[in-house]
Parts: sequence; structure tokens; C-alpha cells
Amino acid sequence: MGRKFFVGGNWKCNGTTEEVKKIVSLLNAADVPSPDVVEVVVSPPYVFLPVVKSSLRPEFHVAAQNCWVKKGGAYTGEISAEMLVNLDIPWVILGHSERRAILAESNEFVGDKVAYALAQGLKVIACIGETLEQREAGSTVDVVAAQTKAIAEKISDWSNVVLAYEPVWAIGTGKVASPAQAQEVSWFSFIYSINSWSKLTYVFHISNQKNDIMMIFGAATLKWLQTNVSPQVAASTRIIYGGSVNGGNCKELAAKPDVDGFLVGGASLKPEFIDIIKSAE
Ligand code: G3P
Repeated sequence: MGRKFFVGGNWKCNGTTEEVKKIVSLLNAADVPSPDVVEVVVSPPYVFLPVVKSSLRPEFHVAAQNCWVKKGGAYTGEISAEMLVNLDIPWVILGHSERRAILAESNEFVGDKVAYALAQGLKVIACIGETLEQREAGSTVDVVAAQTKAIAEKISDWSNVVLAYEPVWAIGTGKVASPAQAQEVSWFSFIYSINSWSKLTYVFHISNQKNDIMMIFGAATLKWLQTNVSPQVAASTRIIYGGSVNGGNCKELAAKPDVDGFLVGGASLKPEFIDIIKSAE
């Protein structure tokens, strides 16, 4: 069972009515691979969700950039998962590093949000990723594992979850994790999340010898998943990469076997987003 390539466009806090119309027209006119090849989900700010959903080509879908952690009520400024369901918005991004950093969203809080959103029937792009300080301190794997564990402890069904590994130091900086780096963490975070179902053991710590680790890690991981979880879970859960993906680097990143797609920020507002969608071919 293949993992369909996934391209998300996170517009963040950007856009005017005119700009949104232009982006949607560009997307609607684009010659892109069929929905059998690539799943495209764009995420405008809340205020533009209904108009983008109603005007976007039907094979592309929309996501909210966040939602509240429980049923709506006296939570001024929040948008509930129920409201998104009511507007027929199928996806939501949760745990983005900008919300973890700026709004102090803890791993636990993000785990609860993911569980609640899934319980309401939403599909979730769950974001994980380390800061530059954490990577330089050598704690990437611990950080990403803790973020994934906080989600894995709260959910039992991953079929509507896409994990987005976004190294914070690559977001909006023009620095891109090397394809090996992007692939290395994606497998580990996935293994850790699934492994938490049975016991919290590390498959093993990832050191810096990327290529060797990738060969050993890939083979051991696949075997571990098939025997400890199921061939279906190993085959179907997508882990995508975000952090300065653009029209120039998307092909190389897409070529990595364990990079199942992208969550794109700045470039999703530009014509090069079409090239990124095409990198699925
Ligand atoms: O959610 C995607 C985003 O964080 C990546 O941003 O601008 O580096 O593509 P950017």
C-alpha cells in the first residue's frame, strides 16, 4: 500500500481578498499530477477558509491552521473543531512550531488537540521539529521523540494523521535540512510514535553518521514495524517535511524514499508552489 505524496501549503498569517483570489486562480489553472499521485491541501487563515474552499478546484482540499483543544464555548478568539466540521473543512494543522514557540503550546496540549480534532472527524497535519539550539545540543531525536510521544499517547488510530517534520531552524530561513537529515528524523519520529503503543524503547539513538544510519535504520525499522505493529501501519502513515521548501530544492527532497511530501510556507503563496506539487511525479 503506497503512501500518496502529500503537499500542504501553509499560508500562515498572510493574504488579502485580492491576493487570495489570485492564488486560487493560479492553483485552479495549474497543470498538476492527478489526485491519485498527489494530495494537495492548502491552509489559508481562518477568515478566508470558506471562500477558498468554495472556489478551489475540487481535487484540492483546505485545512485550518489550528483549532481549539475541546468543545467550543467561552474561549474568546478560538475556533472549535466542531466549527471546522460544520464548514466542511476536512483538515487542520496542529502543533506548528510558531504556535509552540509564540503561544507556548506544550507537547501535552498539542497531543490533546490532535486527539480532540481526530475525535471530531478532522484529519490532522501534526507538526514536530527541533530548534537550532536543540539540534546544536544534539537533542534533535529526544525533542522530536517527546513531541511524537505526546501525540501517540493520546491517539490509537493514525489513519487520519500526517506527521510534518519541520526543523524550526529551516523555517523561513532559506536553510533546508539536507535530504538525509529530513529522511533520518522522519523515520525515527514515526517509529517512536508507533513504538509507544507497546513500550517506550528507542529503536536506537541516531548519531551523525547519516548515511550508515540511514541504511541500518531503514532496514531495521521496516522489520521492526512489520513484526511489532503491522505491515499496514508501516506502509500507510505519511511523514512530510517542512522548512524552506521551494521550487529549486523540492525535486531532490522528494526523491528521498522516506520523505512523503511537504508542508510549505512562503513558497505556497507563489507560483513555484505548482512546481512543488509537480515534484510528486
Ligand atoms: O508549515 C510550513 C512552514 O513552517 C515552512 O515555512 O516558509 O520555511 O516554507 P517555510
